[in-house]
Amino acid sequence: MEAEDALNSGIITCWQSPSNIALVKYWGKKGNQIPANASLSITLSVAYTLTRIKASKAPSGKGPAVIFRFEGVLNETFGVRIESFIKSVLPHFTFPKDIIFDIESGNNFPHSAGIASSASAMSALALCLCSLENKLAGIDGISESFLQKASFISRIGSGSACRSVFGGISVWGKHPAIDGSDDEFAVPLPFELHPLFAGIRDTILIVDPGQKRVSSSVGHNLMKGHAYAAARFSQATTNLTAMLLALKQGDWETFSLITENEALSLHAMMMTSRPGYLLMHSNSLKIIDKVAEFRKQTGSAVCYTLDAGPNVHILYPESDSDKIKPLIEELKEYCHQGTAIEDKMGSGPEKLNCR
Ligand code: DP6
Repeated sequence: MEAEDALNSGIITCWQSPSNIALVKYWGKKGNQIPANASLSITLSVAYTLTRIKASKAPSGKGPAVIFRFEGVLNETFGVRIESFIKSVLPHFTFPKDIIFDIESGNNFPHSAGIASSASAMSALALCLCSLENKLAGIDGISESFLQKASFISRIGSGSACRSVFGGISVWGKHPAIDGSDDEFAVPLPFELHPLFAGIRDTILIVDPGQKRVSSSVGHNLMKGHAYAAARFSQATTNLTAMLLALKQGDWETFSLITENEALSLHAMMMTSRPGYLLMHSNSLKIIDKVAEFRKQTGSAVCYTLDAGPNVHILYPESDSDKIKPLIEELKEYCHQGTAIEDKMGSGPEKLNCR
């Protein structure tokens, strides 16, 4: 009854959730968003989505219904997608289905920057839904089980989103080296990260801010029956084992070897899919070459990774920022209007007190 009264006047939940960049990639899935291999990512801090939900009681039989505004503008296409996502996760929640979800969302990075925003957007949305459930049940605070559920719900929206729920480094997918790792939700790194990697920098070089030509869902699907699928999934598992050790020991060389191997393997899978496709641009390749050359000449700790697109993420320890600066300045020449976003490892999503 109390919960119903609260819904009558509208309940507001608000979360800010960051994007993440995978070092060991998730590429290929089965069933309902179950990854073909375990993946590992750095949760970022500068690129995030802020989402506010006002949940109010809908007339009987009229919910769930979604009104969605992106950066202040009503977006019916996204609204329909979010409504169908909420319907699909409703069985996992205790709240009633007759709810109107008035959702406002926005990114702090330009929509046109070409950064995948599904991880930050879906994790922010999932966190709001979990907070709503808690508010209705009179539960306060953020527990381990709350985050686990938020990660589980995020995954159903977008696989990579489930890793954004945790700060630092997180792992999604069952892996023999990590107790408690799971295909249905992500877990934080189960040991202390070597200080070399604390606050690791990620400068995102925006080679092309446009929409990618082939979506990730299409790409994941093309892994079904891919000639190299089995080898790729086993490569990722082996790479994850090595990456964990590197993160524990502060072994930059292995870290950068695995990170670049994963980036190129991801794009190799795209090129060798049927039909094959290329998401890297000539400027992505020039950047990759320049990074390798700079590393050879200066011995600096710097490496790159790629998402499913042409933009290049330049990773380096915080302590080396000054040394890497000239390289970044040089690489801006290959970016769209010289655009680079300075991001770094962050501490994860934040619950906000919105009105
Ligand atoms: C290349 O998480 O966007 O970024 O589950 O279909 O939403 P869906 O896919 P998505 O795939 C991300 C792929 C990747 C690698 C990664 O983040 O692990």
